[in-house]
Amino acid sequence: MSQTDYSIRPAGFDDAEAIFALIKQHPEELIPRPISEIVQNIDRFLVCAGPEGILGVVAWHILPEIGASRNPTVEIQSLAVRPSYRGKGMGRRLATAALDHVRLLHPSQVIVLTFHPGFFARLGFREVPKASLMHKIYMGCINCAKYDSPFTCPEVAMALEMGGATATK
Ligand SMILES: CC(C)(COP(=O)(O)OP(=O)(O)OC[C@H]1O[C@@H](n2cnc3c(N)ncnc32)[C@H](O)[C@@H]1OP(=O)(O)O)[C@@H](O)C(=O)NCCC(=O)NCCS
Repeated sequence: MSQTDYSIRPAGFDDAEAIFALIKQHPEELIPRPISEIVQNIDRFLVCAGPEGILGVVAWHILPEIGASRNPTVEIQSLAVRPSYRGKGMGRRLATAALDHVRLLHPSQVIVLTFHPGFFARLGFREVPKASLMHKIYMGCINCAKYDSPFTCPEVAMALEMGGATATK
């Protein structure tokens, strides 16, 4: 399949069911998301669309801070490519497109928790201690029912430095 056979585009409400199904197919790697939550955050999703429908998805999420933003951090979430379309560069194109969107916000860093550190290392992410991402751990991991502690969970924490507002000056 060539790159002209599919396109990466912002998701629309019509894509919510397909996004839900694709995320649901990956219970080991992805946090499940209710369709209502996908609809509510549809403006934070990109999809890879081809003649066979939605082939891949990626989303991002802004981590909270108290008061003015001192270390704005965005998390890449829900990245998935349909199994039969993997190994063709679609995952990289989706992740790169998400980073291009997120870069406009001037974050300090983009983070990800992943079972595929090699994939993200190719995009410039570097492994970081989970303890350096406590806001992520409080937001997401605290409700995890799979592992008794985020520090024993096999997912690898990774970060891509983006330089914040200074990167554009
Ligand atoms: C991870 C995933 C999105 C990769 O998608 P993909 O379309 O197969 O990836 P690409 O073809 O764009 O690969 C880009 C590069 O990463 C490499 N790569 C892909 N998966 C990799 C992995 N698991 N480990 C190491 N490298 C990987 C490819 O070899 C390629 O390398 P190259 O630049 O030398 O050519 C896909 O395997 C997937 O959907 N997995 C299930 C859900 C998941 O785990 N998502 C990540 C959640 S954080």
